[in-house]
Amino acid sequence: MSDNKLNAYNIFDLREQALSRVPKGLFEFCDRGTEDEVSLRNNRSVFDRIRFKPRTLVDVSKRNLETTIFGVKHKMPMVIAPTGTAGLLWYEGEIALAKAARDAGIPFTLATGSMTAMERVADEAGGELWFQLYMWPDRSLSQKLVERAKAAGYKALVVTVDGVHAGNREYNIRNGFTIPFTFTAKNVADVLLHPRWMFGVLARYIFTTGMPRYQNYPTDVRARITAGPMGRSSLRTDSLSWEDLKAMRKVWPHKLIVKGMLHPADAAKAVDCGADAVVVSNHGGRNLDGIISPIEVLPEIADAIGKRATILVDSGFRRGSDVVKALALGAHAVQIGRPTLYGIAAHGEAGAARALEIYREEIGRVMALLGVNTIGELGPEYLHFVDNALRPQSQVRANLKVVEGARAAGEN
Ligand SMILES: Cc1cc2nc3c(=O)[nH]c(=O)nc-3n(C[C@H](O)[C@H](O)[C@H](O)COP(=O)(O)O)c2cc1C
Repeated sequence: MSDNKLNAYNIFDLREQALSRVPKGLFEFCDRGTEDEVSLRNNRSVFDRIRFKPRTLVDVSKRNLETTIFGVKHKMPMVIAPTGTAGLLWYEGEIALAKAARDAGIPFTLATGSMTAMERVADEAGGELWFQLYMWPDRSLSQKLVERAKAAGYKALVVTVDGVHAGNREYNIRNGFTIPFTFTAKNVADVLLHPRWMFGVLARYIFTTGMPRYQNYPTDVRARITAGPMGRSSLRTDSLSWEDLKAMRKVWPHKLIVKGMLHPADAAKAVDCGADAVVVSNHGGRNLDGIISPIEVLPEIADAIGKRATILVDSGFRRGSDVVKALALGAHAVQIGRPTLYGIAAHGEAGAARALEIYREEIGRVMALLGVNTIGELGPEYLHFVDNALRPQSQVRANLKVVEGARAAGEN
């Protein structure tokens, strides 16, 4: 364990620290799921049904976590997922997150709904930057945004397709934490009880640039978080279709990633439409309750597109061991959303850096104990499946062949 000045030994410690620092309404806005939170819980518990089957007496003294995504070498197989709220948890938190990603040698994805302008993130942090897009009902606004991301040097465009309707998050209404944000007795009291956040984040914005704004919205619709009609909901469209993806492919010259897929047929279609990668994701259990967890469908998607596209996965990864399981099931890299937000909320850039360091240490340790030196060596043969539902189909098929062969030979 490296020098841990922040007293955070795992991601759950950072979560606790974030909880004590930011207003409860804001914390829950970031941390919780939707409706009865079945998806949120399953995103974690699903990992318990996959166990490791290690090899021994392997020299693992030359372990290396490097991985190549889109031809670019990264220091570990992870990506920071788009989350619109880093700039609310910490003053200009997006810049802090991007710097932490740069220093850890992994990509950072800036969300459409961020508080900091994409050009400033590029100028002040640099590194491998991706831009996430929610499609507006008026497609020309989205095109403008994509042009801006291109000019600012973003290397990949992440089109999110699982947010055509906001999830049902009742706690936000109960906490008085809705967007557009309005002041209520409850949320004002919540803010007053968290003076470090009030002075360090909110007041700092108010005394410099005013109430936080969606700096990446096109100028005609740019709004403060307190603004009404052109607030966040206007940035989603429920008419999103494959034609939009094809149109986006025509205008975006770099890598195109489709985020929020859980069906192998959709993943294959996205690649047919020109996507370079898909993110197998249930949006961290925030949109549809009772939805399948990405890890449950990952092997099928890997079977469907693994040879012709990059596969990223997210939702619920809190331990290096979770990451290793996904890599063994066919993912090329794992994205995290909340874990680096906890880090940012608690300690700014240092907290996000600590979150990434925790994953690095945990992944390296698991690889050593599995008898693996490189990410490329990982495969389902290092896993044991407690039930058949999670077993990769290709392996089930291989097993069936063995049984059929044995029957044919009269051994059964
Ligand atoms: C507070 C918050 C805001 C998010 N905002 C966005 C967003 O603007 N665009 C998007 O594509 N995904 C968004 N996501 C989803 C993440 O990109 C990612 O899919 C999810 O957080 C992964 O799950 P994890 O938080 O368990 O790691 C958000 C997630 C959180 C927690």
